[in-house]
Amino acid sequence: MASEAPYILVLYYSRTGQTAEMATQIARGISRVPGVDARIRTVPSVSPDTEASLPAVPDDGAPYAGKDDLAGCSGLAIGSPTRFGNMAAPLKYFLDSTGDMWLNGTLTGKPAGAFTSTGSLHGGQESTLLTMMVPLLHHGMVLCGVPYSENALNETTAGGTPYGPSHWAGTGEQQVVTDHEKTICQTFGERLARLALKLR
Ligand SMILES: Cc1cc2nc3c(=O)[nH]c(=O)nc-3n(C[C@H](O)[C@H](O)[C@H](O)COP(=O)(O)O)c2cc1C
Repeated sequence: MASEAPYILVLYYSRTGQTAEMATQIARGISRVPGVDARIRTVPSVSPDTEASLPAVPDDGAPYAGKDDLAGCSGLAIGSPTRFGNMAAPLKYFLDSTGDMWLNGTLTGKPAGAFTSTGSLHGGQESTLLTMMVPLLHHGMVLCGVPYSENALNETTAGGTPYGPSHWAGTGEQQVVTDHEKTICQTFGERLARLALKLR
């Protein structure tokens, strides 16, 4: 049986679709690199009775991630809307279930990075990205950001940071992901995929 092509897991939580759109753009960048696939997965929202109530397959959007999706990846991009300057609970809940992988060093040496969407321009883009990197470091992963050689990072008037892709969605009518933000997402995805091939 042919062995599975290496893949980058694009793992995200999104309530109103902005972070989900960024995941799609990151996957576009990954698919530019021959020999690496993009696997997009989401996580269910959390509530006191999560186990009991939610169907196993979401009504729409990406399938829910299983821990095997994470264990088998060659690289990881984690995405979350900002919640008070930090990642949202559903993604943290999933990451908190990976203690066995930490113990086995399953993710050690693999490249990883973070992406986020916010309501305000200066209300948590950087703090969310930098704090999302902490569990990645605990897993021994190799951090990947976005270099300033990517010109969109110098030209963007909305989201996009050297710490990772970001989107400024606004607090009223949701702003669409801009061309600069899309370019930064795609460059990040391509960079993660190339790093994964180098580090394999
Ligand atoms: C409980 C809560 C807390 C939030 N905290 C922040 C915040 O600290 N800073 C900010 O800019 N936006 C904040 N937001 C706005 C979301 O991050 C923003 O709407 C984001 O684009 C949603 O992404 P999504 O469409 O992927 O769900 C918050 C939203 C909620 C519901």
